[in-house]
Amino acid sequence: MVSTPALPVLPTIAASPNQSLYPITATINAAGHLEVGGCDVVELATQYGTPLYIVDETTIRQSCRSYRDSWSRHYSDEADKALVLYASKAWNCKAICALVAEEGLGLDVVSGGELYTALEAGVPGDRIYLHGNYKSAAELQLAIDAGATVVLDNLHELQMLTHLAQGQQQPVRVMVRVTPGIECHTHEYIRTGHLDSKFGFDPNALDDLFERLSQVPQLAFVGLHAHIGSQIFELQPHTDLGNAMVQFWLKARRYGLDPTELNVGGGLGIRYTEADDPPSIDEWVQAVSAGIKQSFDLAGLPLPKVLCEPGRSLVGSSTITAYTVGGSKEIPEIRTYLSVDGGMSDNPRPITYQAAYTSAIANRPNADPVQTVTVAGKHCESGDVLLKDVRLPAIAPGDILAVLATGAYNYSMASNYNRIPRPAALLVDGGRADTIIERETYSDLVRQDRLPIRLTARAR
Ligand code: LLP
Repeated sequence: MVSTPALPVLPTIAASPNQSLYPITATINAAGHLEVGGCDVVELATQYGTPLYIVDETTIRQSCRSYRDSWSRHYSDEADKALVLYASKAWNCKAICALVAEEGLGLDVVSGGELYTALEAGVPGDRIYLHGNYKSAAELQLAIDAGATVVLDNLHELQMLTHLAQGQQQPVRVMVRVTPGIECHTHEYIRTGHLDSKFGFDPNALDDLFERLSQVPQLAFVGLHAHIGSQIFELQPHTDLGNAMVQFWLKARRYGLDPTELNVGGGLGIRYTEADDPPSIDEWVQAVSAGIKQSFDLAGLPLPKVLCEPGRSLVGSSTITAYTVGGSKEIPEIRTYLSVDGGMSDNPRPITYQAAYTSAIANRPNADPVQTVTVAGKHCESGDVLLKDVRLPAIAPGDILAVLATGAYNYSMASNYNRIPRPAALLVDGGRADTIIERETYSDLVRQDRLPIRLTARAR
């Protein structure tokens, strides 16, 4: 009997999805190719073209369940004591909104567009929370009509909402976003909890705000919100948050308000490279939970209903982006550039935040690295580099390069720079691939263009 050789194991597939470089179903199949969700990545690239986002359904479901299970284990096993909201800015599209809603999560949205998409996906309005430091009257109205909760960010918004909520049968549910003054270590563009932030109310402004809120019957104040930043590996700032928030909680009560919901934001980091070592989802929930329990107990307050808003750690490691390798340029003793058919338009994180990624060659993921290369995107911009000085095996035009952990803030921040159509996205599970976002075509690119008659004549 011929025995099949054991498949080589991919590095760093961890118990908590956010600690895994690869989607959790990733393996190497009998053809020696990278496989995700039971689908051969090379075959998908051939069939659907590249660049291509390949999203592993199991990883997203597993991440949602980890959050939910951890809250009931560490905080309270009462069903309605914790609600996990998916921070949909990480990747807002109908399929992902519907998937996380099916897992029992609510949704954090930050614009009319995100809210509209969530509603189109069938997410119940009463599980949606609208954030943002600029909400237009139209966006607020959409939220009111949907029965969503509005997270107040400034006094101007309070005035608008007070006006819009007049005549509503039910008071509009509002939370208040506070900048708690908690510092954490992450890129300065994605820090939000320190005092010098454009988001939320300064703690000094809360007396005035609570006084006003206590006089507006058409708004139902339900609680407080804070978010300290993103891609954070430390647990202490999240534990400290409970203590900071309880002070604001007590203040609200002094104005006759009765907060019951505490939203601690998102922020848990993921592994982009072997060097990254984020805590697991369970460790994060345990730390946040301990901070809240300790501070609320100490203040003699009943435990609030807790909400959290993970984005990156729910979807980041679910996705790989497949690219087709093109030509290379070797500059002796300086660097070898390898070009691929995508770049900053489908993944703007390296050029924006100097973010580092890991890649594998999908058609031979276990080949030994033999060279140091810089993977460059195809855009007309020197900084359009996806991976800088990374070790890769021998590589040739036509190979499929998979960049890992591209599920968060890639598609959602994608652009059409250089008039490059945005890639398709596939949701893979159990050997089946469903298109969840169609690849844009050239005609999509000119769909909103208008050519004034007088220019038509001259252009011909
Ligand atoms: N809640 C609020 C109010 C937020 O502002 C954010 C992220 C989250 C939750 C989710 O944070 P997460 O769990 O994903 O860390 N574009 C940047 C990230 C910006 C994050 C903005 N706010 C990046 O690509 O790294």
